[in-house]
Order: sequence, then structure tokens, then C-alpha cells
Amino acid sequence: MDHFHYRDGALWCEDVPLTRIADEVGTPVYVYSAAAFRAQARAFRDALSGVPDVHLAYAIKANPNLAVLRVVAAEGYGADVVSGGEMARALAAGIPASGIVFSGVGKTRAELLRGLEAGIGQFNLELEEEGVVLAQLAHERGLAARAVLRVNPDVDAGTHAKISTGRKENKFGVSIDQAPAMYARLSALPGLSMQGVAIHIGSQLFDLAPLEAAYRRVKALVDELRAAGHQVARVDLGGGLGVRYKAGDDPRTPAEYGAMVERVTKGWDVQLMFEPGRVIAGNAGVLLTRVIWVKPGVVHPYVIVDAAMNDLARPALYDAWHDVDAVVPRGERMTANVAGPVCETGDTFAMAREMDAVKGGDLAVLRTAGAYGATMASTYNSRALVPEVLVDGDRYAVVADRIAAETILAAERVPEWL
Ligand code: LLP
Repeated sequence: MDHFHYRDGALWCEDVPLTRIADEVGTPVYVYSAAAFRAQARAFRDALSGVPDVHLAYAIKANPNLAVLRVVAAEGYGADVVSGGEMARALAAGIPASGIVFSGVGKTRAELLRGLEAGIGQFNLELEEEGVVLAQLAHERGLAARAVLRVNPDVDAGTHAKISTGRKENKFGVSIDQAPAMYARLSALPGLSMQGVAIHIGSQLFDLAPLEAAYRRVKALVDELRAAGHQVARVDLGGGLGVRYKAGDDPRTPAEYGAMVERVTKGWDVQLMFEPGRVIAGNAGVLLTRVIWVKPGVVHPYVIVDAAMNDLARPALYDAWHDVDAVVPRGERMTANVAGPVCETGDTFAMAREMDAVKGGDLAVLRTAGAYGATMASTYNSRALVPEVLVDGDRYAVVADRIAAETILAAERVPEWL
């Protein structure tokens, strides 16, 4: 079911018209569908129902809103976190510490300590020294930190270079060749309880082949570790499944992914962990915006909307495509560039786009903005921090306030000597 759909000539989210949210909350604003989050969380979970022992850790970087975390956690998900801030959110959302996986290439000593004190379920180590420090912090406190070693399987995920993580030149994981010796040294440390290995090769993957290749490399490593006498209880397979952003995109579904995982991991005899982000959140949200002007252009008109690259950075950062649709279509089409008010040429959401015709004052949405949208927002150009709304049936709530430019200004100081 599509949770954003046209009814009586206007776009609704579930049973709430987007025109109402725009009137009552203002624009720009992210709008999420709780039902869409639930449906995707269930689809991914159900896809893995044939795998004997699974732990799902929602990659909260995709959409860490507290209310969203509640919805996803209620579907049986723990959390994959990459900072102390994300850990605090996961705990605040009521996710049990034991269900939290702490990833990230630059965890500070303070963050490792917070994780230890909170009793989180797993640290994904990115380098040997991190393991040594974690072991020491844990041992001093009479604890044993459960950890896995993230390896870099050196496969090309076939995705955008900026969201590719599993090639040997990327900053993530340790070389799979060095992993056995490193694993042996880490396993010998008091304070560390090595549980297995982790990988994550990239995001927005359409093709299962690189994932399968990476999983097979990991299995060879697991066999090698076991042959060397190590217990391997867990393998964390990361996230990465892509979603549809535009017509013609043809990502593999969670069901197809689950079937591959089931086939490839048969007999591994481990708990398999997953860190899905985008596949849960991507299509559960839109960025609702109002057209300020339609500015005549030399080639195409510029539709200047009140959302900008600071609210949704993906087009500027990765040339990402987001569909643009009118909330109340006029029944005509136009070819236009869609841009925000920020003073950068890169603040464009779409170029030469064939889209619903709009005029100044009309509402529009940028679709598939539920993942890596609000979470990557900034206040560049002294713009407000974009608010978020969660729709659930015929109810909605503002689940993150708009932080006004004045509020941000109030946190700044001019030293007395100036
Ligand atoms: N696990 C790890 C260790 C990760 O680094 C990531 C994403 C995930 C899981 C979740 O991946 P997903 O299932 O969402 O593909 N800002 C970019 C995406 C960055 C992804 C970073 N890591 C974008 O907007 O496309």
C-alpha cells in the first residue's frame, strides 16, 4: 500500500491531507508515515524469517527521530548507532542496551566508556587499537565488552563512490587478510569478549551479487577463525539494501534479499545481525515545501521552493534524484529546474525535470526523503532547522520542532573584548 496517495485531488499521508500539515505547521517540513515505517520494518523482518537466529539493528543514522525509533523498536528492532548521541537516542527511545550495536570508525574513549556503562550489546571494532583501548576500559571496571571485528572484504558494491564502504581503499574495517591474526590477539585480551565479525559494503545497493560475494568472503574468514580454535557466535552483515527513488529504479526487495541470505548462510551456525537503514525509512517520508516563486530561466524556469540543500542535502552531495510532485496537481506538466533559496549553485533539487506544473504559493513534495533527510539537515545560510511530523492514521504530531534561526543565534556569544 502507498502511504502517500492522492485523494480528492490532493496528496495525503495516510488519512491526513498534506495541505493541513502545511497550514498548521508551516513549510518546509518532513512528513513521515508511521504505517510505512511499520510496513517496511515488518517486510524486512519477515524476509528473514527463514534464518534461524537473527538480530535486527535499525541503522538509526537513516532517521533517528525519537518517535520514529519508537515505531521501529516496537517492530522488534534494536539499533545500530555510530556516536554517543545516537546511543543516547536509542536508549531514550526505550531500546534495550543489549539490542544496541555500536559501529563507527572514530569512537572516542568517552563514547566507548558510555557504551560500556550502558551495557550495550556489541561494539563493532574498526581497528586493533580500538579493541585494546576498549579491553582496558572494560577490564578496569571488571567488565567484558562483547565485540566483533569489522572487516573490509574489498568488494565493489556498485553504488555511488561517496556511499561505498567495502573497498580496500575505504576507511572502514580492517583488511580481511589481517583479520585472523588480529582476531587472535584481540581474543586474548582480558576485558574483551570477541563474538565474531562484521561487514558493511555500502548503501543504496540494487544488486545482490556484491553482497553475496562479501558474505562468502566473510564465511571463509569464519571458517578460518574456527579452524584456529576461536568461537564465532555472531556475524553482522550490515545494511545497504536500496530503495526506489525514481521510475525505472529496480532495487531488490527485502524478500529477494532474505532468500539470498537464507541460501548463502545456511549452516553457518551463528546469530546473524543486520543493520538496515534506508530500506526501512526511505519511502516512509517526504519533504513538504512551498513554492516561493517560479522564476523565468534562460533554458527552463526555476521553481524556487522554501526547502533547500540545508534541509535535504542528498541532491547537492550525491546528485541524488528525488521525485518532485505537486500536492494539489493542476493537471498540467512543465519542464523546470527546482531549487532552494540557499546561495549556492549546487542548491538545486532537480534540473530540466518534467514535473507537475506549479505556481508561486503551491505546495510540492520531494519524495523518498525519509532516510538521510532531516538527519543530515543543517542551518546553513542561517535558516531554521527543519521540523518533522509523524502521521499515524488520521492523527499527526510534530515530532521535532522547527528550531528558529533566532534560537540558534541565542546560543552564540560575542566575547567581551570585542
Ligand atoms: N551499517 C553501517 C555500518 C553503515 O555505515 C550504514 C550506512 C548502515 C548500516 C545503513 O545502511 P543503509 O541500510 O541505510 O544503506 N547519507 C547517504 C547514506 C550513507 C550511509 C552510511 N552508512 C545517503 O544519503 O545516501
